[in-house]
Amino acid sequence: MFQDSVVVVTGAASGIGKRTAIEFARQAARVVVADIDDRLGAAVVDGLKSEGLEAVFVRTDLTSEADCENLIGAAVETFGRLDVLVNNAGIEISTPLHDMSEHEWDKLVDTNLKSMFLCSKHALRKMIEATNGVIVNVCSVSGLVAWPGIAAYNATKGGVMMLTKSLAVDYARYNIRANCVCPSIIDTPMTDTSIGHDATVKEEKAKLNPLGRLGTPEDVANAILFLASDKSSFITGAALTVDGGYTAI
Ligand SMILES: NC(=O)c1ccc[n+]([C@@H]2O[C@H](COP(=O)([O-])OP(=O)(O)OC[C@H]3O[C@@H](n4cnc5c(N)ncnc54)[C@H](O)[C@@H]3O)[C@@H](O)[C@H]2O)c1
Repeated sequence: MFQDSVVVVTGAASGIGKRTAIEFARQAARVVVADIDDRLGAAVVDGLKSEGLEAVFVRTDLTSEADCENLIGAAVETFGRLDVLVNNAGIEISTPLHDMSEHEWDKLVDTNLKSMFLCSKHALRKMIEATNGVIVNVCSVSGLVAWPGIAAYNATKGGVMMLTKSLAVDYARYNIRANCVCPSIIDTPMTDTSIGHDATVKEEKAKLNPLGRLGTPEDVANAILFLASDKSSFITGAALTVDGGYTAI
């Protein structure tokens, strides 16, 4: 489905980003794996290459503009073009707002929101030249409704939501689409860190979704690939929930 397409996926060393990179590569895309984690990022690329798929790892601290510019430059230099940017990387810090330090706030905003501005900025310059491109941002149900206890995280995802709509509105004239996915709890290393490995706790969380299970990285990757594909060619500025019905209640 993505033959000859060049796709950059941020935060692709783990969880949703890793699965997304794998699914794109298996659909014949040439994939740029971007992450701050050298070891896990390189392992994803090694795994793809062992399947005969095309991928390259670019170590990137997404909170740095120089690194984001380098990432987009490396994609174009290596593969000759840029078709899809998936802004996926994010972190969760669950310190209550009244105890949160300025440093924690800045780290959340820089990782979850500023990174998406920086990568989009440099990707847009290439996409405008080509009058072609798709951006998919990984938002969250917490960009739509306030998830209890993680106010700062919710605020960053609210920002991602409006960044997505603004990208859609401002860059449609260049044939560039922008959409986001809004997952509820997905079974990833981030979730293991925030709610732990306890199966009973996971079961309790799963019951919050009408479908009665946690999401998988593949559930989210499937939605991202749809939004990046021509099958969604008249969809821009949309927020696709991947939440087992969580926000339908
Ligand atoms: N897991 C969930 O329940 C869930 C739900 C809704 C939304 N999300 C969102 O999905 C996205 C991916 O989450 P995940 O669960 O796969 O997390 P994860 O922790 O498994 O993976 C996140 C990746 O981002 C990378 N990363 C973090 N900071 C970085 C930086 N400064 N520069 C480069 N890379 C950096 C990490 O190294 C890691 O590989 C995030 O935006 C998250 O907010 C997750």
